[in-house]
Amino acid sequence: MALAKAATLDNTMGLPCRAERFIAATTHEEIRTALVMAADDAVPLNIVGGASNLLLAPHLPGITLQVACDDWWWEESDDQTVLVYAQAGLSWHALATACVERGWWGIENLALIPGHVGAAPIQNIGAYGVELADVLEAVHVMHCDDGREAVFTRDDCEFAYRDSIFKRALAGRVVVTQVVLRLSRSPSPRLGYGDLAQRVSVHPEVREIFDAVCAVRREKLPDPAVLGNAGSFFTNPVLEATQAERLLQEYPVMPHFQQPNGSVKLAAGWLIERCGFKGTRWGAFGVHERQALVLVHLGGGDRQELLALADHIRDTVYQTFGVALEREPRLMG
Ligand code: EPU
Repeated sequence: MALAKAATLDNTMGLPCRAERFIAATTHEEIRTALVMAADDAVPLNIVGGASNLLLAPHLPGITLQVACDDWWWEESDDQTVLVYAQAGLSWHALATACVERGWWGIENLALIPGHVGAAPIQNIGAYGVELADVLEAVHVMHCDDGREAVFTRDDCEFAYRDSIFKRALAGRVVVTQVVLRLSRSPSPRLGYGDLAQRVSVHPEVREIFDAVCAVRREKLPDPAVLGNAGSFFTNPVLEATQAERLLQEYPVMPHFQQPNGSVKLAAGWLIERCGFKGTRWGAFGVHERQALVLVHLGGGDRQELLALADHIRDTVYQTFGVALEREPRLMG
């Protein structure tokens, strides 16, 4: 079993973080041992994936567990369906790449999303018109209190925009160990978002869409290996129709997306840009010059300073538009 020892925790935001006792578990037995250790010693248990959607405290007390099982396999059936089983510690983009290479459709629009497979269901990752919920068959978990294993169907997961039961009722109570996806061998291109359709041929191969999504992301989003960031820092606000209509009278060019239930989703990046933040620098942090929804770490900063900037942006957007932004990455420690 990997020893629980103090470790520096890498995270895409590049925040300094030292975990008191870090365990990278490579088997279910090791995950269970870590859970028992935290319970026996009555210390906090922090569960991390790729640490791409977390804002870590400088010091994480207790046990910090990372699932490091990273195998995957699949079952093909006659009806063009492929069931893909991926363990939680696998890189999401590595899985998306491997599926696209085999000509399977379903997660090509989710290319280049940072983080591990196990984190994908927590916030129901989504991009370019596709959400994990569209292809998810099941999530395998281990309960933290007694180590029992359970399988959640897609309906059990209570998925919504950037949301699931794992962020709510089950937050901190289960460890995701495996995800099962239902992909397809027959073409099912989803090109409705932005200018994706213009970037590919009329009947694109799955690889073309994957490459186009990678290209758009590389144009707009900073590479965490080069510039620290946690992707979108706020979720896109969803408003009642009447509030959205009032705002649209004042700002007719404001991007807005009608939701099936009548509510309206706005683009937080547009609201932040309109407040003049895009491309600005505030000490060690800044607002990305090509996508105002992404806060970037220029180096040497800590979480407190970052949260102060986020509060300032949220307050300014609220004073200007009367819209309350919510933070997307979760605080840990
Ligand atoms: N916009 C601006 N200014 C900006 C950014 C955006 O005016 O600085 C406008 C754009 O012109 C466009 C609209 O806002 O009209 C939407 O922009 P974009 O397509 O870039 O998407 P987004 O809503 O800002 C969401 C996800 C991204 C995902 C993209 C593409 C959330 C919180 N973010 O961003 O997810 O890649 O759509 O599907 O839903 C992530 O979560 O880390 C992430 C990058």
